Amino acid sequence: MEIVNGFEDSSVQKAVRLLNDGDIVAFPTETVYGLGADALNSYAVAKIFEAKSRPRLDPLIVHIGQADWVFRYAEHVPSRAMKLIDAFWPGPLTLILQKQAIIPDIVTAGLPTVGIRMPSHAVALKLINALQKPIAAPSANPFGYVSPTKVSHVARMLKGKIPMILDGGDSVFGIESTIVSFRERGIYIHRHGAISEEDLSKCVEIVHEANTASGCRSPGELPYHYAPMKPLKIVHSVDEVKTTNSSFLAFRKLEKLPISRYVKVLSATGDLKEAAANFFSSLIELDREDVDIIYAERVPEIGIGKAIMERLKKASKRGVK
Ligand code: TXA
Ligand code: MG
Repeated sequence: MEIVNGFEDSSVQKAVRLLNDGDIVAFPTETVYGLGADALNSYAVAKIFEAKSRPRLDPLIVHIGQADWVFRYAEHVPSRAMKLIDAFWPGPLTLILQKQAIIPDIVTAGLPTVGIRMPSHAVALKLINALQKPIAAPSANPFGYVSPTKVSHVARMLKGKIPMILDGGDSVFGIESTIVSFRERGIYIHRHGAISEEDLSKCVEIVHEANTASGCRSPGELPYHYAPMKPLKIVHSVDEVKTTNSSFLAFRKLEKLPISRYVKVLSATGDLKEAAANFFSSLIELDREDVDIIYAERVPEIGIGKAIMERLKKASKRGVK
């Protein structure tokens, strides 16, 4: 497996050759690292599912290089979608739209809809625009595990399974994109992510009823996901820690230390954006320590804090499928 500097043209050209040959390549985005294939090549996309041990029922996000490519791959783009595109693309917002026939069924797991986003990371955009085709990409981690935000995470997690990683530095947001679909009265949030509910609601109305009829359930909505290997328990305070053979993931600088052997602080000042950026990498580090359990302190469920808590809650539901 080759790790190359994604900011160099020669690296991007190499990655484009691999993608055109039907191979898969890991690349940086502003949210987390993705594992990409030519979205229009079913055979290549199948390799993503294999490398991640991902169930075929779990659809992939299609990444585009220009906002107007959305008309090539979506059958219909509602006016609310146009508003969101203007406000948030390029960036960490995925829109679920009716798909055009050109998008292979393996990408959407047979659904009539496709998730589309235009990433803002310079290397991701350069790659997609050099390929001149959309890239289907989930996060570059084994299915169900914590998402990678550093090139070293990808190298460890997918060792021997992929030919190349484009290094684009650490992910800025550190939390996946927000996923929304369109309803009669407004938008529905399938997965909280890097764009906050508050920011979306300045632009469009948010509705809360899930639509079961169109099969829109997103595996990001499975109760157990994004989980470390060790059991994880969410706590209000350090007093709930019962064993020293544990790790503690603190939101902000602690006034009183827990009895845990290892402690990691997401943001000393309690800044939610900084906490999000450090979230997955801190979990990965704590997960490598020889402890029985990881305790995680609640974070305020405002702004990107909602996305952090959504992931913590899922991570704490080991065994619940
Ligand atoms: O930030 C991100 O979104 C990252 C980077 C690489 O772009 N990607 C990512 O992909 O998080 P993944 O596959 O780990 O999560 C994508 C989620 C899945 O839970 C999938 O079910 C949902 O998007 N999804 C994709 N297409 C969908 C569709 N047509 N309907 C419902 N959910 C969909
Ligand atoms: Mg994922």
